[in-house]
Amino acid sequence: MEKPDMSAVLESTPSHLRGNGRPVTEERTLGNLKVSGTIPPELDGRYIRTGPNPITGTSPHPFLGDGMLHGMRLRDGRAEWYRNRYVQTPFITNPSTDALDMSVMLDMKSSKANTHVFGHAGKFLVLEEGHFPYVVDGDLDTVGPTNFDGVLKGSFTAHPKVCPRTGEMLAFGYSAMEPYLRYLRVSAEGKLVQTENITVGGPTMMHDFNITQNFAIFMDLPAVFNLELAMTGDLPIRWDDNYPARLGVMPRNGNDSQVKWYDINPCYVFHPLNSYEDGDKIVLDVARFSHIWRESAMDFPPPELWRWTIDTTAGKVTEEKIDDRPAEFPRVADSVVGMKHRYGYLAAMSQAADPMDASGAILKYDRETGVRSDIEFGRGCVGGEAVFAPAADPKSEDDGYLMTYVYDANVDSSRFIIMDAASMDNEPVASIDLPRIPNGFHGSWVPASVAD
Ligand SMILES: [Fe+2]
Repeated sequence: MEKPDMSAVLESTPSHLRGNGRPVTEERTLGNLKVSGTIPPELDGRYIRTGPNPITGTSPHPFLGDGMLHGMRLRDGRAEWYRNRYVQTPFITNPSTDALDMSVMLDMKSSKANTHVFGHAGKFLVLEEGHFPYVVDGDLDTVGPTNFDGVLKGSFTAHPKVCPRTGEMLAFGYSAMEPYLRYLRVSAEGKLVQTENITVGGPTMMHDFNITQNFAIFMDLPAVFNLELAMTGDLPIRWDDNYPARLGVMPRNGNDSQVKWYDINPCYVFHPLNSYEDGDKIVLDVARFSHIWRESAMDFPPPELWRWTIDTTAGKVTEEKIDDRPAEFPRVADSVVGMKHRYGYLAAMSQAADPMDASGAILKYDRETGVRSDIEFGRGCVGGEAVFAPAADPKSEDDGYLMTYVYDANVDSSRFIIMDAASMDNEPVASIDLPRIPNGFHGSWVPASVAD
């Protein structure tokens, strides 16, 4: 039999589908998992992460792969199961569906469900920013899309913020069509109780936003919809030097007329770490890119941690770089979302083309002392976003665990790790051997008390 020309195969494979970008084809349910160390018995719930895993084997962009969930059920100090499941979107039931077809983009049920997972009001929600959320059950099986009993009229962000004080889920949706931006407020009981159209300068890609105790803060940045590109079947968003970068501050129960806009230097932020009020100032820590997508939608300069301070009295924003080490996927403890945080956790980004040369890390920033402490995974090992789960009776903001999947190119498989967030010890509290889990985006620790 003739050998396939591997160099030709590699050349035709987009970079995001090489290495650990390769999709997996099997949906598995695994018990009797090999555990090293001790799973803290107080961890009763699920860690669920989603990510792109194209069912056809290929996708034109990493953001367009079909959402596959990878979940761990922890209970009584045991890893009860690992399972991975496709979210049953129209792309799975009909794999020839084209995500970049305008009619599909505008069909709110046509979510890729590949970006984030939240537990809220007793439900597991799987999110992607252009469409309705999908609901899955505790076994990761798909229930279906939700439009909040018909109240949601457009897209729903993949990055809502659950206020730890009120239990509300604050969100927004953006669109290439007017209204370009809607603010959405979901009650602690899961009802969509407020929808406000917000005036912005044009249709931009607004991936995430911020909340404080009293405000929602929109990031209106120069990644703008481009109709010409939409016609060519490319991802229809590009950097626009003529589009001003601004932050919009609105009372959480407010409306469009109450938004105050503040100019900032051009940049792109997919993900803020957190934000909070400090007197008449609003502090936002963000993973900032100098720009994105100038020439192509694969243009990602190295992201760095920055701090923006909005002086609401002077009407000005101060911008300060915190660190040079490229890092993304910033997270804080769920208990401090919208409130003053001391600690932030980021995933160090490895730029190596060969997975064997890549090495990832979790970076913990102490914003009080300025000290950064790192957990390095070693050569060939790359982790995803580190999600914080608190200890049973936390004595401090960082009293708890960091969890993520780590891919090890040396053995081409993955492990689920639970690290001590307070000590940042390089030795895991527990490590669980798993099959290979492809690179993904975001996930959450959902305690059984929130959704089960
Ligand atoms: Fe994101």
